[in-house]
Amino acid sequence: MSAFDLLVRRARLVDGTGAPAVVADLAVRAGRIVAVGEIGSGSARRIVDADGLALAPGFIDAHCHDDRAIIDTPLLEPKISQGVTTVVNGNCGISIAPVLPGRPAAKAPLGAFTAGGARFERFGDYFAALEASPPAVNSACFCGHSNLRHAAMDSVDRAATPAEITHMAALLDGALRDGALGLSTGLYYPAASAAPTEEVVALAHTVARHGARYATHMRNEEDHVTDSLAETFRIGREAGVPVIVSHHKCMSRANHGKSAITLPMFERAAREQDVGLDAYPYRASSTLLFPERVAKCDRVVITWSEPMPDAAGRDLADIAAQLGCSDIEAARRLLPAGAIYFQMSEVDVRRILAFPDTMIGSDGIVFEPHPHPRAWGTFPRVLGHYARDVGLFSLEEAVRKMTSLTAARFGLAGRGRLAPGYHADLVLFDPARVIDVADFADPCRPAEGIEQVFVNGEPVWARGSATGRRPGRCLRRTGG
Ligand code: ZN
Ligand code: CU
Repeated sequence: MSAFDLLVRRARLVDGTGAPAVVADLAVRAGRIVAVGEIGSGSARRIVDADGLALAPGFIDAHCHDDRAIIDTPLLEPKISQGVTTVVNGNCGISIAPVLPGRPAAKAPLGAFTAGGARFERFGDYFAALEASPPAVNSACFCGHSNLRHAAMDSVDRAATPAEITHMAALLDGALRDGALGLSTGLYYPAASAAPTEEVVALAHTVARHGARYATHMRNEEDHVTDSLAETFRIGREAGVPVIVSHHKCMSRANHGKSAITLPMFERAAREQDVGLDAYPYRASSTLLFPERVAKCDRVVITWSEPMPDAAGRDLADIAAQLGCSDIEAARRLLPAGAIYFQMSEVDVRRILAFPDTMIGSDGIVFEPHPHPRAWGTFPRVLGHYARDVGLFSLEEAVRKMTSLTAARFGLAGRGRLAPGYHADLVLFDPARVIDVADFADPCRPAEGIEQVFVNGEPVWARGSATGRRPGRCLRRTGG
């Protein structure tokens, strides 16, 4: 009988804490790391000689919309090929549950992420489905505020009434009892932009009672980004909940450079309350196509369009030229549609990524026909481009932003570090070669340099392809 299920020998261990890498061995038994150090000749069912390669905790994608993707495409190759072993879903106010039967069909963006396939009235039903047919990755999921609004309100273009807030709070309470990670909002989006701060504070009190957390796609990430940060921090303070600002950015030319103002706001707030943030390593953002937004961008690329499916992957300017109309008019004709917006400054992208509290989150939409390349490239791009080639931070710091920092922020116990007792979510990669290959022209390409990926001790990605195994667990929030 072997002593271990897996023994990785002579790896450059990047343990997730930010500590300098050391060359050592790591052993796994029954899905957990059981020893780290000089293990030598211990026997194991599977032995990997790592010579020269780095071994890190599996990456935790802090910001995902894979609620449905882990059911429809459970191998989730765009993510496991990057070394991602846990996805945090249900962001931006949109989650796959709760979706109540008999309610009017939810408008975009709720429909965009959760339409088709199964509908889940309760989080418990969704989690049970994942446990019955697990994906390759672990997953946790926020409960979306826009879901609550669609469930409790007949029209979402106004503030909720006290009775509707009571209804939403009861649904949220059920979601949190079932193990949802917390509440997410998308106050930018039509389904929630009419919600006043007080409505969110009221729901955040329910979050506080469960010891959960609040994540937000803020009301504004452009001219009013500082007001939106103040609103977010206020919600956290008034309800007494930790807050996470999703995909922090400063969009439109007039706001370039504003991260020099927003990041010190995080530092000041952090002295009195629990605040966090995530970011993706690109100058371009992506969401639904909003025609009024296209004038503020250097370039717009269409990711999908219902009336014109062939538009996916094309520049809006070319489509407009072909149609013989303005960009705005072309955008109107493409609706409903999704788009990539080149709208940020590289200075802000780097400053935000380098900020010590910034976690890495892809925000990728893996099922779009022509997605933003972040869906396939985020983590290797941070490791290969920003850490190694640009020198923005060390490899160890890059890994910390993808692992222990994220696990702590979301309360994912036993994940995000290489230490005895931790779950054996592991990524073996070549620090000299790791790089994203997906780009805006050809976005669905696996990264280079990610050699092997393990989830709960089982190999999910090896030698450039998925192994077909699906050991991912459903990470229900536990405790206070
Ligand atoms: Zn968002
Ligand atoms: Cu998002």
